[in-house]
Amino acid sequence: MLKKRFVCLLILAYFLLIILRFSSSHPLCHANERSSLLQFKASFSIDKSASGDPSAYPKAASWTRRGTTNCCSWDGVECDEDTGHVIGLDMSSSFLYGNFDSNNSLFKLVHLEELSLADNHFNYSQIPTAIKQLPMLTHLDLSFSVFSGQIPSEISGLSHLSYLDLSQNVDPDSEESILELKTPDFNSLFQNLTGLEELSLSDVNISSTVPSLLANFSSLTYLSLISCGLKGKLPVEIFQLPNLQILKVGFNDLTGELPYFNQSSALEVLSLEANSFSGEIPTSIEKLDHLIELYAYSCDLSGPIPFSIGNLKQFKHLDLGENNFSGPIPPSFGNLTQLIFLDLSSNHFSGPIPSSFPKLIKLNLLFLDGNDLNETVDFDMFLRLKNLTSLALSNNNLSILIRPSVDGTPPQYTTLKLSHCNLSVFPDFLWQQERMENLQLQGSTLRLIYRYSTTIRIKGVTRYYDVINEELCIIDLSNNNFGGEIPEVIGELKGLHALDLSNNNLTGGIPSALANLEALESLDLSQNKLSGGIPQELTQLNFLQYFNVSHNRLAGPIPANHFQTFGSSSYEGNMGLCGIPLPIKCGNFEPALPPSQEEQEDSSGSVFQFGWKVVAIGYGCGFVVGVLIGHAVITRNSRWFAKFFRVKNLYVRRK
Ligand SMILES: *[C@@H]1O[C@H](CO)[C@@H](O)[C@H](O)[C@H]1NC(C)=O
Ligand SMILES: *[C@@H]1O[C@H](CO)[C@@H](O)[C@H](O)[C@H]1NC(C)=O
Ligand SMILES: *[C@@H]1O[C@H](CO)[C@@H](O)[C@H](O)[C@H]1NC(C)=O
Ligand SMILES: *[C@@H]1O[C@H](CO)[C@@H](O)[C@H](O)[C@H]1NC(C)=O
Ligand SMILES: *[C@@H]1O[C@H](CO)[C@@H](O)[C@H](O)[C@H]1NC(C)=O
Ligand SMILES: *[C@@H]1O[C@H](CO)[C@@H](O)[C@H](O)[C@H]1NC(C)=O
Ligand SMILES: *[C@@H]1O[C@H](CO)[C@@H](O)[C@H](O)[C@H]1NC(C)=O
Ligand SMILES: *[C@@H]1O[C@H](CO)[C@@H](O)[C@H](O)[C@H]1NC(C)=O
Ligand SMILES: *[C@@H]1O[C@H](CO)[C@@H](O)[C@H](O)[C@H]1NC(C)=O
Ligand SMILES: *[C@@H]1O[C@H](CO)[C@@H](O)[C@H](O)[C@H]1NC(C)=O
Ligand SMILES: *[C@@H]1O[C@H](CO)[C@@H](O)[C@H](O)[C@H]1NC(C)=O
Ligand SMILES: *[C@@H]1O[C@H](CO)[C@@H](O)[C@H](O)[C@H]1NC(C)=O
Repeated sequence: MLKKRFVCLLILAYFLLIILRFSSSHPLCHANERSSLLQFKASFSIDKSASGDPSAYPKAASWTRRGTTNCCSWDGVECDEDTGHVIGLDMSSSFLYGNFDSNNSLFKLVHLEELSLADNHFNYSQIPTAIKQLPMLTHLDLSFSVFSGQIPSEISGLSHLSYLDLSQNVDPDSEESILELKTPDFNSLFQNLTGLEELSLSDVNISSTVPSLLANFSSLTYLSLISCGLKGKLPVEIFQLPNLQILKVGFNDLTGELPYFNQSSALEVLSLEANSFSGEIPTSIEKLDHLIELYAYSCDLSGPIPFSIGNLKQFKHLDLGENNFSGPIPPSFGNLTQLIFLDLSSNHFSGPIPSSFPKLIKLNLLFLDGNDLNETVDFDMFLRLKNLTSLALSNNNLSILIRPSVDGTPPQYTTLKLSHCNLSVFPDFLWQQERMENLQLQGSTLRLIYRYSTTIRIKGVTRYYDVINEELCIIDLSNNNFGGEIPEVIGELKGLHALDLSNNNLTGGIPSALANLEALESLDLSQNKLSGGIPQELTQLNFLQYFNVSHNRLAGPIPANHFQTFGSSSYEGNMGLCGIPLPIKCGNFEPALPPSQEEQEDSSGSVFQFGWKVVAIGYGCGFVVGVLIGHAVITRNSRWFAKFFRVKNLYVRRK
C-alpha cells in the first residue's frame, strides 16, 4: 500500500517537473527590456487600416503589465536562450499606426538581431537615425510601412546585415514612391554592406544609373529593384553574380541589349518587364539553365525567339507580351512541358501555332492574341489542354475550326478571347461554361472598339481604370448573325459593365429586366430587329454612359431625363420612336408599344438558349465587380500580395 502511494507520488513529481520545464521554456526577460517594449507599444495606436495583410492582427495587444510579466513569451518577441535579452522582434502586420521617432524606446533593445516592422503605417516618418543603436541587426524589414524621405546613412553602419528590405514604402493614396536614396547615394550607403544576401529596394526613388557597386555583392541571392527610376544599361556583371537566384528590375527605364550569357547561372527568376531594352533575346539564354520564370513584357525587344529556348525545360512562367518579336513561334516550345503561364500577345509573330502546343498540358494561361499568326487552327488543340482557364487568340489572321460537338468535358474558361478568328459557328462548348468572366467573340469590323473600360463611376465618383480593364465584366457578341430574342434571364448578369449585341439579327422586345444590370455603363443594341418600346425601367441604370438602340424597329416615347441626354444618333433609324432628342414630337403621351406579334418568334436557335448558364456567368462577373468596388482597400492588399507572393499581375503595368 505504502509502496503504491510512493509510486503515485513519484509519478506526480515527474509530471510537476515536466510542467515546470515547459513553463520555463522561455528565458526570463530583463525588466528594462520589458518596459521598453511596453513603451514601444504605447507609442502607437492600433488602426486596422494600417496593415494590408488579410491575416494581420494586433500582436502587441496581449503585452500587458498585469498578464505574463515574462516578455520573452510575448507575441512577436524572441529572447536569447542564455542571456534572456530580446534578440528578435516581429511586429509585421500588427496594425501599428503613428509617427516613429528616434527617441522611440525600441532603440533601447540593443541586442536585437532580427527586426520586422513591415506592413504597418508609420505616417510618413523618416527611418529613424537611431537605427544605428542596433548594430547587431542581421535582418531588417521596414517594407510597406509608409516610411518616407531619404534613407539615412546610419543604415550603413549595420555591418552584420544579411537581409534588408526597404521596399514598397509608397503613399497609400497615390501609390507614389516616398522613400529615396539620393544623398547618400547607393554606392556610399552600401559600400560596407556588400555581404548582403537579400536586398529589396523596390519603389525606392533612386533615379540614377544602375549602381556599379552591385557587381560586388557576391553573396546576393535575391535582388529586387522594381520601379526605382533606374536608367541606362543593366551591367552584365549583375547577371553574373554567382549566387543570384532572383533578379527583379522591372518598371525602370533601362536601355541596352540583353547580354551574352556566357556561363550557367543560379538565376531562377528574371524579371525585366516594362523597360526600354532593344535587340533580341540571345540564343545563349539557354545557359540560364535554372530559369523558371522570365518576365519581359513591354520591353521593346524584337527579332525572332531563339529555338534554343526549348532547352530551358524548367520554365513555368514566360511572359514576352507587348514587344516587337517577329518570325515564327519556335516549335521547340513544345519541350517546355512545365509551362503554366505563356503570354506572347501583342507582338508580330507570324506563321502557324506550332502543332507541339498540345504537349503543354500544364498550361493555365495562353495568350497569343494581337499577332500576325495565320493559317487554320483546329480548336481541338486547345480543348486538349484541360487546365487552361485563360485563352486569347483574338486579332490574328487565324481561322479557327470548331467541331459541332466536343468529345468529353471541355475546359472551364474564365477568359476566352476569340475575336476576329473567322469563327463559322457559335462555339458549342460555350454552352457548358460556368466560370466565364471575360468572353470576347467580336466579329470582323474592327470593340467598333470603344474604351468603355477606362472610366468607371462608382457611387457618383468617376475613377480612371487603365490597369484592370481586362478584368471588367464585358460581353461583346456584336457583328455576328445571332438571331432570336434577348431573354429576361440576362437581367441576372448583375456585374456586367458593358453589353454589346449590336449588328446581329435579334428580334422581340428590349427586356425590362436589363434594368437589373446595376453596373452597366455601356449598352449597345443597335442594328438589330428589336421592336416595342424602350422600357421605362431602364432609367434605373445610373451608370449608363453609352446607349445605342439605333436602326431597330422600336416605337413609342424615349424615357425622360437621362435618356434624353444621349445624342439623336443613339435612336435614329427607328421609325416609331419619338421625343427628345429626336425631332419627332410624341402625340398623346402614348405608352410604349408591346413588341409586335409577328416579330415574337420561337427563340430556338437563339444564342441565348443557355438560360441558366448565363446566370452562372453572371456570378463570375459579380465577383469582379466586388473587387472593383473595394478598390481603395484592395490596392493595399494587392500590394501586400505582390510582395509576399510576388505575383506579376498585381504590379501595375505603367506603359
Ligand atoms: C500623422 O502625421 C500628421 C502630419 O504630420 C499629424 O498631424 C498626425 O498627428 C500624425 N498622426 C499620428 C497618429 O501620429
Ligand atoms: C519623442 O520626440 C517627439 C518629438 O520629436 C516628442 O513629441 C515625444 O514626446 C518624444 N517622446 C518621448 C518618449 O520622449
Ligand atoms: C524621384 O525623385 C525626383 C527628385 O529627385 C523626382 O523628380 C521624381 O518625380 C521622383 N520620382 C518618383 C517616381 O517619385
Ligand atoms: C566602411 O567601413 C570602413 C572600415 O571599417 C570605415 O572606415 C568607413 O567609414 C565605413 N563607411 C561607411 C559609409 O560606413
Ligand atoms: C568592388 O570590389 C573590387 C575588389 O574586390 C574593388 O576593387 C572595387 O573598387 C569595388 N567596387 C566598388 C564600386 O566599390
Ligand atoms: C566566358 O567566360 C569565361 C570565364 O568566365 C571567360 O574567360 C571568357 O572570356 C568568356 N567569353 C566571352 C565570349 O565572354
Ligand atoms: C519592329 O520590328 C521591325 C522589324 O522586325 C522594325 O521594322 C520596326 O521598326 C520595329 N518597330 C518598333 C516599334 O520598334
Ligand atoms: C525540342 O523540340 C524540338 C522540336 O519540337 C526537337 O526537335 C528537339 O529535339 C527538342 N529538344 C530537346 C532538347 O528536347
Ligand atoms: C491541373 O490542375 C489540377 C488542380 O489544380 C492539378 O491537380 C493537376 O495536376 C493539373 N494537371 C496538370 C497536367 O498540370
Ligand atoms: C501565312 O503567312 C505567310 C507569310 O507571312 C504566307 O506565306 C502564308 O501563305 C500564309 N498562310 C496562310 C494560310 O495564309
Ligand atoms: C491576312 O491574310 C490575308 C490573306 O492571306 C492577307 O491579305 C492579309 O494582309 C493578312 N492580314 C494580316 C493582318 O496579316
Ligand atoms: C434573320 O432572321 C430571320 C428570321 O428571324 C431570317 O429569315 C433571316 O434570314 C435572318 N437574317 C440573316 C442575315 O441571317
